[in-house]
Amino acid sequence: MAPSSALLLPLRLPALALAALLLCCAGCTSADSPPASLIAVAARDVEGGIVSEGDALYLPNVTACRDACASAPGCNLWIYCAAADGCMGSPGDYQRDLRKYRQCWLKYDKPTNRSAWPRSKGTKDQYTGWISGTTAAGVRDGSLPDVGYTRCYCSSSYIQNGYKFKGVCAKSSSGYGVSCYLEGSCNNPPQNGEDWCPSVQQCTTILDTDLDGKVLNDGDNTYVNSPEECCGRCTQTEWCNAWTWCSDPNGCNGGELFRFRQCWLKNADPTNPQPKGGYGNSTGWISGLRMAWMPKD
Ligand SMILES: *[C@@H]1O[C@H](CO)[C@@H](O)[C@H](O)[C@H]1NC(C)=O
Ligand SMILES: *[C@@H]1O[C@H](CO)[C@@H](O)[C@H](O)[C@H]1NC(C)=O
Ligand SMILES: *[C@@H]1O[C@H](CO)[C@@H](O)[C@H](O)[C@H]1NC(C)=O
Repeated sequence: MAPSSALLLPLRLPALALAALLLCCAGCTSADSPPASLIAVAARDVEGGIVSEGDALYLPNVTACRDACASAPGCNLWIYCAAADGCMGSPGDYQRDLRKYRQCWLKYDKPTNRSAWPRSKGTKDQYTGWISGTTAAGVRDGSLPDVGYTRCYCSSSYIQNGYKFKGVCAKSSSGYGVSCYLEGSCNNPPQNGEDWCPSVQQCTTILDTDLDGKVLNDGDNTYVNSPEECCGRCTQTEWCNAWTWCSDPNGCNGGELFRFRQCWLKNADPTNPQPKGGYGNSTGWISGLRMAWMPKD
């Protein structure tokens, strides 16, 4: 384990800086970037014109929803409820609707760089249960990075004792809540240079992928209902910057039923993720990096 005396104050990365960082990977020595088709964002319900109603489209898994979008004329956004305890019906709801479980909504929205795209429905720190992705090419996340209560952005990179963190909030060094270092450009930075992070994190997810890393928890005995909840556990866990959740009720690791809903918390290099067995080869596992949306190519 890492020395526990060290302060851990990881950070949050503006989406554009992140995009630049990841794009550079095409020319550097890190592992291949994940294919755009595998990338989605947890705890996000994206806005758009409805191409197909989720009330009428229940699919067994998230990749099936993505594929449905890819083959539906006019669709460039998909939204899937992978949360076993259901998803929010509309912004501002306080309760999940179990009937939403496995609904797949297909939508269209015009990509624009005039405003945030894909546009998010609901508030930033709302546990929606939904996971969203796009089939549009060349997308950079237009959404703003999460801000703390003082509305300062967290800074973009941080290395503590050799462990890298990119764009993440993490367990506060003071032991209370979740915090991050602030960017120097904040107008009124708090005295200690920390800020509180939103309770809900919109984590980048990579479908059908089991990211490698130093395991930080007893994943065999950690069960949560949704990818965003697994990401939330990661936020609350010292050194965690990557996580893996089994989304498939038919089990993961080739059908091990008991794996469904398992949440593994890990420490990895978020700039150079190493998928076990390759991206897209670990059917049913959803892995997340503690970063915002990654660019499409
Ligand atoms: C996902 O759903 C599709 C379409 O129903 C199916 O062919 C595929 O086997 C499913 N994948 C998993 C991991 O269950
Ligand atoms: C969109 O971005 C491109 C490249 O960054 C820029 O050239 C163009 O002017 C932008 N368009 C709008 C409407 O902001
Ligand atoms: C992923 O699976 C494909 C098809 O089974 C296989 O050809 C490929 O070698 C796998 N990738 C890795 C990195 O194992």
